[in-house]
Amino acid sequence: MTIERVSEFPSLSIIRHPLIQHKLTILRNRETPTKTFKELVDEIAMLMAYEATIELGLEPMEVETPLEKTIGAHITGKKLTLVPILRAGLGMVEGILRLIPAARVGHIGLYRDHDTLEPVDYYFKVPGDAPEREFFVLDPMLATGGSAVAAVSALKRAGANRIRFLCLVAAPQGVGRLAKAHPDVTIYVAALDRELNSVGYILPGLGDAGDRLFGTR
Ligand code: PRP
Ligand code: URA
Repeated sequence: MTIERVSEFPSLSIIRHPLIQHKLTILRNRETPTKTFKELVDEIAMLMAYEATIELGLEPMEVETPLEKTIGAHITGKKLTLVPILRAGLGMVEGILRLIPAARVGHIGLYRDHDTLEPVDYYFKVPGDAPEREFFVLDPMLATGGSAVAAVSALKRAGANRIRFLCLVAAPQGVGRLAKAHPDVTIYVAALDRELNSVGYILPGLGDAGDRLFGTR
C-alpha cells in the first residue's frame, strides 16, 4: 500500500508511491526547466489519480467478446468531473484525462491576493447536474488553504456533495484549514511539507507552481 495516513488529519492521504516521490523531487529542483516541470506535473497527477480513484464504485456490465458473452464491470454513476483551480490546476488536467478520458472538466478561477493571501474569485463553471457527480478538485499547491476552501465551498453551493481534493504539495496549515472547513472532503497529496514562510510560500515546497508551469516568473 502506498498511502500514508497521519493521525492529526483523518481526511488526508499521502501517496508515497516511489515513482511519484522520484518525480516530485525533480519538480522541486530549482534548475528544472518549464517544459520538464509541466511534463512532471502531468505525470504525477496521472499517478495520483490512479490511487485517488481506488474506491470508485463498480457495477456489473455484460460484454460480448469475439467468443462469448461475459460479465465485466463499469464505474457507476455519471461521468467524473475534474475541476482545476486556475491557473496552476490546469497543469494536472491532461494527465488525469489520459486515465479517465470521459471525465468532464469544470473550472474555478481564483488567485491569491499577494497582501492578504486571501483568494479572489473570477470564474466558475461546472456541469449542471452537480449533485449526481463525483468531483476531483485539482491544484498543485495547498498553502494557507484559502483557495481550496473557497473552491470546495463554491462547488458545494452548486450542489456537489462528493468531492476529493488532489494536490502535489501541502502545508500542514492548509490541510488543517481545509479539513476543518470541509471534513467530508478526502485530501490526496504527494507531500506534506514543513511549514509556510512569512509570505505564504510552502517550505521546502517547489516555488510558485503557476509561474513555473507557465514560465511567467
Ligand atoms: C496558488 C496555487 C493555489 C494557491 C494556494 O495559486 O496554485 O491555488 O496559490 O495558496 P493558498 O492555499 O494559500 O490559497 P495563485 O494564487 O498563485 O494563482 P495562479 O495559479 O493563478 O498562479
Ligand atoms: N502557491 C504556490 O504556487 N506555491 C506556494 O508555495 C504557495 C502558494
